[in-house]
Amino acid sequence: MRQSKYDDPTFFEKYSQMSRSQQGLEGAGEWPALQKLLPNFKGKRVLDLGCGYGWHCIYAMEQGALSATGVDLSEKMLAVARQKTAYPEVTYLHQSIEDIAFPPESFDIVLSSLALHYVESFEAVVQKIRTCLTADGVFIFSVEHPVFTAYGSQDWYYDADGNILHFPVDNYFYEGERQAIFLGETVRKYHKTLTTYLNGLLINGFELLHVVEPQPPVHMLSIEGMQDEMRRPMMLLVSAQKRTRI
Ligand SMILES: C[S@@+](CC[C@H](N)C(=O)[O-])C[C@H]1O[C@@H](n2cnc3c(N)ncnc32)[C@H](O)[C@@H]1O
Repeated sequence: MRQSKYDDPTFFEKYSQMSRSQQGLEGAGEWPALQKLLPNFKGKRVLDLGCGYGWHCIYAMEQGALSATGVDLSEKMLAVARQKTAYPEVTYLHQSIEDIAFPPESFDIVLSSLALHYVESFEAVVQKIRTCLTADGVFIFSVEHPVFTAYGSQDWYYDADGNILHFPVDNYFYEGERQAIFLGETVRKYHKTLTTYLNGLLINGFELLHVVEPQPPVHMLSIEGMQDEMRRPMMLLVSAQKRTRI
């Protein structure tokens, strides 16, 4: 199986200090925008790809889901998820997203929060998701925005005094591996264009419901550095519904 950067002790420790790790969904800047895209969970079977600490599985259960399955490549992330989750209807699987192979129509809702930019082929995953979703099933995901992933470094350009000049966007149409700096560590991610994400859904049997480039919520704008998040998109949120025919 592949190795997850999240199992690297130093990276895992730094990730655990982030507000999204300490406060859960309320500490995630994109949560208010993502929450608006979520369907009614009542009685639904939910799959969460790249579930991390399991926040979205827990949220689905709180909203009345029948069951939730979280898939993640990191044993360390799953250990936290298991410890945080009190619902016996939640199952966590140590598996890579690329290797999922659930029976047809096993889920009503598939979620993925900030994990699919770690996966090389979006289309291959979409095809698997289509298979395991019920008719009219919904797929909602967030990823790092293609503008954010294109150049690779994921950092601003600064002047000699350390002031931000601009954010680099380059090599946009060259998809593939990037060595990004995240939490001061080198992390492998995969850049994809906006077309790859949106067309990947349209040509594989999904209808687009919503496309959102979230801006920082007003109540978070006073947090240091948050104003700069108005200068370029960092995330892309999409919800789509399975069409009965491709
Ligand atoms: C930024 S975290 C997001 C966690 C969670 N979805 C959230 O929003 O709080 C990314 C997660 O994706 C997982 N991940 C990365 N690549 C993966 C892969 N190929 N298969 C499964 N999980 C993966 C990591 O281990 C990590 O838990």
